[in-house]
Amino acid sequence: MKITVVGAGKYGSTTALRIAQAGYADEVVMTDIVEGLPQGLALDMNQSRPIERYETRVVGTNDYADTAGSDIVIVTAGKPRTPGMSRMDLLQDNAKIVGGVARQVAEHAPDAVVIVVSNPLDEMTALFQKVSGFPQARVMGQAGMLDTARFEDKIAEKLGVSPLVVEAITLGSHGETMVPVPSLATVDGKPLRDVLSAEDIDQLVDATRNGGAEVVALLKTGSAYYAPSSAAAKMAEAVAKDSGARMPVCAWVTGEYGISDVYLGVPAALGRGGVLRVEELDLEPGELDALRAAAEAVRSKQSDVDSLV
Ligand code: LAC
Repeated sequence: MKITVVGAGKYGSTTALRIAQAGYADEVVMTDIVEGLPQGLALDMNQSRPIERYETRVVGTNDYADTAGSDIVIVTAGKPRTPGMSRMDLLQDNAKIVGGVARQVAEHAPDAVVIVVSNPLDEMTALFQKVSGFPQARVMGQAGMLDTARFEDKIAEKLGVSPLVVEAITLGSHGETMVPVPSLATVDGKPLRDVLSAEDIDQLVDATRNGGAEVVALLKTGSAYYAPSSAAAKMAEAVAKDSGARMPVCAWVTGEYGISDVYLGVPAALGRGGVLRVEELDLEPGELDALRAAAEAVRSKQSDVDSLV
């Protein structure tokens, strides 16, 4: 199992380390345009192996030839937000960067399953698929699991309970039209609506939508990477182990929820083929409307995104 992480910034390097530490991959390749950066980080990571007791080696490189034959490629390349920016403000710059990466991956790792995390997420995922020409099932984006984790953690913090007893899901876009789903959220098996007021839930939904910007505003120099890298690494593991695990991801939708031909945050089963299937949850009418509105909001931006490359 060979896994490549493109981009050795905070998100990419933390993802590479999490995957290496999980120990199931034979090799993790981390590539970046900055000379010395991926090599230095890889050296440092590898020297933690005797302490942390894992064997997977990280290879740092500036050469895509070293990514040849990767089974999974995680694309973190691109600029992060700074305070006051929306994810869409990154569109022009990151389209060129992700488009270039897509060409390289298509050349060197033509059979890979690809997980895109660059922002704006829904558009960059669509762009990668178009430029690479890969089947849609083999290209997905990471966002829903991060947004879900933020929703769950905010619920846990609000109630003062363990985050491990909270179950929730967040669908839609990784942006303005994110759709946290209160009707399916539970705390210790009890419906969220039985333990929090409608007003409190609305406030948590808004805070979840704003979760990325909240971190950016505090960091000032970039965006979140600990929770995002956990999510990307978990997706890679489901693909690598062909587990069929269901998780919210940005996937190509073909009729599910009455929505077609767009990349959107939905629950999907993941395995060696990438997205094995999109799963349909029982949403309330208002939530379904919000998901359809999210699809329309991202559809127009995705349709001509490859013209920016
Ligand atoms: C976030 C960025 C990574 O939501 O999109 O933190």
